[in-house]
Amino acid sequence: MHKVDVLLGLQWGDEGKGKIVDVLTPGYDVIARFQGGPNAGHSLEFNRIKHVLHTIPSGIFHSDKINLIGNGVVIDPVIFSRETEALEELDIKPRETIYISKKAHLILPSHRILDAASEVSKGDTKIGSTLKGIGPTYMDKTGRNGLRVGDTVQPGFLEKYNFLKNKHREILKQYEYHDDPENYEEEWFAGIEKIKSYKLIDSELFINNLIKENKTVLAEGAQGTLLDIDFGSYPFVTSSNTICAGACTGLGIAPTVVGEVLGIFKAYCTRVGGGPFPTELTDETGARLRKQGNEFGSTTGRPRRCGWLDLPALKYSIMINGVSRLIITKADVLTGFDTLKICTGYMSGGELLESLPFDTTQPLEPVYSEMKGWNTDISRITRYSDLPKEFTDYTGYIEKETGVPITMISVGPDRTATVFPPAER
Ligand code: GDP
Ligand code: IMO
Ligand code: MG
Repeated sequence: MHKVDVLLGLQWGDEGKGKIVDVLTPGYDVIARFQGGPNAGHSLEFNRIKHVLHTIPSGIFHSDKINLIGNGVVIDPVIFSRETEALEELDIKPRETIYISKKAHLILPSHRILDAASEVSKGDTKIGSTLKGIGPTYMDKTGRNGLRVGDTVQPGFLEKYNFLKNKHREILKQYEYHDDPENYEEEWFAGIEKIKSYKLIDSELFINNLIKENKTVLAEGAQGTLLDIDFGSYPFVTSSNTICAGACTGLGIAPTVVGEVLGIFKAYCTRVGGGPFPTELTDETGARLRKQGNEFGSTTGRPRRCGWLDLPALKYSIMINGVSRLIITKADVLTGFDTLKICTGYMSGGELLESLPFDTTQPLEPVYSEMKGWNTDISRITRYSDLPKEFTDYTGYIEKETGVPITMISVGPDRTATVFPPAER
């Protein structure tokens, strides 16, 4: 029996998961999303065209693969519908390869409005949510009020919808937020009809059967470990478990079937939205990283905050997920910096901390290790032995510090811009 490999972001999201999943897809039969929703923006690029996916697994461009949207995902029918239409225009047949869990929860128009109302009410302390309704939808899931994909084909769906909508309207009155769900219902119900034309399944049975049949599965995480509801920088987090354990609850698979845990990290750090970011650079260096890395959100277009690699945070993410292999992305973005810095700890109140403290508002001064940069363009390199020594020193240092091997190096957004280091180095 093949085990399920899990691929996750180890930072604050946007590590390049979409690109890497697309590169790895030929080696798997099934690609499965297990949490998050359209707050995710997973980009992948081939033949000079960039595609951004929000709800649909990043295996969709390989026509012979199964793409599963698991029970842990929250779906906005409008966004799902738009995504599938964009794919159909490219002659891809999403209806043939996408399977959707009946237990996945639906994002209602009123969830989106509540998300906005909640953010406005928070003022300066807002999370910086993508405003896709993620928080309110997961709240209704755990509050046992939510609507699921399977409900759409049950009698009484409209009554259930109206009941929840009216409940949300009452909450919106308390927020004194004026926008009505009915303004968005036509498109939403059209999206529901679209979803109903897809394969709606008991995905936990489906995936466990596939595993028994010896099919290979790659679980595709969304967001990143530092945005996890339990282990991220709470409250500046998303509302789902983005960690490896989330793959078990979000797909209905046992921990014993998890195989490799592939942890993706950027060669530096970015964060979009509010919350602590110890190595953030608000100076020219940060602006340079943003420019060279084209660091603008795939979902919202917001400029991403940029900073140096944070090793204690990376080690924490590796620990929480049990990462067995590391994948470094956007390595090319660091080209041309004379000196590269890697954070190895934080000073706080005269004390050296080796991990992020509970109190995320506490000012932290990063302690850096410095390394020499490289000047040669690495974005067209495909052989590990052609990489400059300064680069392999940088990755070698990370491997030594984390104790986990780097098994893939991404040097550009395109599928082909990927280097596989030999196992023996
Ligand atoms: P995801 O959410 O983890 O899938 O990442 P995003 O797609 O939101 O953000 C990653 C961005 O970096 C996208 O624009 C990718 O096209 C791009 N990208 C991915 N890998 C690389 C890389 O190795 N080098 C460069 N320069 N860009 C990359
Ligand atoms: P991918 O999958 C980066 C951030 C938001 C905000 C916080 C909560 O593309 O890596 P939410 O909309 O979930 O309530 O927002 O989480 N966030 C992301 N940041 N990449 C993502 O997804 C993100 N999804 C949510 O910016 O700070
Ligand atoms: Mg993204």
